[in-house]
Amino acid sequence: MVDEVWPAGLGPVICVVGARPNFMKMAPILRAFDAHHPAIPTLLVHTGQHYDKDMNDRLFVDLRLPHPDLNLEVGSGTHAVQTAEVMRRFEPLLDTYRPSCVLVVGDVNSTLACALVCAKKNVPVVHVEAGLRSYDRAMPEEINRLLTDQIADRLYTTERSAHANLAREGVAEERVRFVGNVMIDSLLANREHARAPATTLRLAGLDPALVVGASGYGVVTLHRPSNVDRIETLAPLLSVLREVSERVPLVFALHPRTRANIERFGLSEGLASRRIALLPPQGYLEMLGLLAGAKVVLSDSGGLQEETTALGVPCLTLRENTERPITVEQGTNTLVGSDPQAIRRGVEAILAGAGKNGRIPEYWDGRAAQRIAADLARWLLTQPSQHTSLHG
Ligand code: UD1
Repeated sequence: MVDEVWPAGLGPVICVVGARPNFMKMAPILRAFDAHHPAIPTLLVHTGQHYDKDMNDRLFVDLRLPHPDLNLEVGSGTHAVQTAEVMRRFEPLLDTYRPSCVLVVGDVNSTLACALVCAKKNVPVVHVEAGLRSYDRAMPEEINRLLTDQIADRLYTTERSAHANLAREGVAEERVRFVGNVMIDSLLANREHARAPATTLRLAGLDPALVVGASGYGVVTLHRPSNVDRIETLAPLLSVLREVSERVPLVFALHPRTRANIERFGLSEGLASRRIALLPPQGYLEMLGLLAGAKVVLSDSGGLQEETTALGVPCLTLRENTERPITVEQGTNTLVGSDPQAIRRGVEAILAGAGKNGRIPEYWDGRAAQRIAADLARWLLTQPSQHTSLHG
């Protein structure tokens, strides 16, 4: 058992969030750090990668995330601009706050940008959700994952396949710990507060009948550049979704990138149907309610593959690969890519009752953040070099 008081010489853990999928991962971590004995001091830094009310503010409220201590207000930009701007604005914080380490989650541009700054300033980097690999380097997230893991000092994984990936890349085993999935911590903590799908539609000014019918409903999200940035890919995807909606009504939560591209390519007409409810990006509790009640989920999201597995809801992933293979091997996920035939077949199988039931992966039990808190406190308290000698 460690002392009840955090050593005065050991600075706070700077916890970084930037984009929507970071928020549900960080919320349980901050709570677990607070509940740890001794409480682990933190400083929550938001890079501002996501900033809209729909992409940001609502999730903070739903997830009971504290207001960030600092917001770097980086906003949108090309990958280079966004990454560089996060780096430029994040660097001075290390001198000002003298953290014991910096904790980053997931695989967004903010994750890599902050990790890279720390590596050059000799501040230890902790990566939560390490070791996931799609082996598709055309995905910006894959580059972020690979590089962050190379420079991280402590790596926490969600599934055991990550350990083999890291070993292959030469990451020393003693830096890696299997702790489970913090995203599922959030899901389990919030499940009973999920908003009823009919209420979500009513509040959006849409007819709730779509989600209370006997045939059930499907949920759609799309935002990967590889699916939505080119008309040649987006148009056929939308037309197969339109077809699917004739079989099962769909609730489609539109990411700002996707909404903008649909308008830019003149594809709005194709989605105009009584059987497709178009919604803005949803709050966490709304999305959780929609997912939990769905017959099928069609998505290119990383997080939704895990959330549907935890909920036991069949998911068709509109990608050729996944960095989360456990959702396919043990969970409810099936990769269908963007091939209309495969999508149709997948939906038909699920509607016929042949969807995957899956099982809950090891350590997706709501206690991953507690495991991280326990391990990180132990690790920090036994680091030979204390803060003053860490900074050049
Ligand atoms: C980012 C992550 C992706 C994650 C996704 C979740 C990277 C490389 N990508 O992609 O891994 O799955 O978040 O949403 O980090 N926009 C707004 N409001 C916002 C944020 C963005 O309108 O609050 C629009 C802007 O036009 C922006 C575009 O969305 O240019 C893309 O935003 P960006 O943060 O660059 O990437 P995402 O596609 O959201």
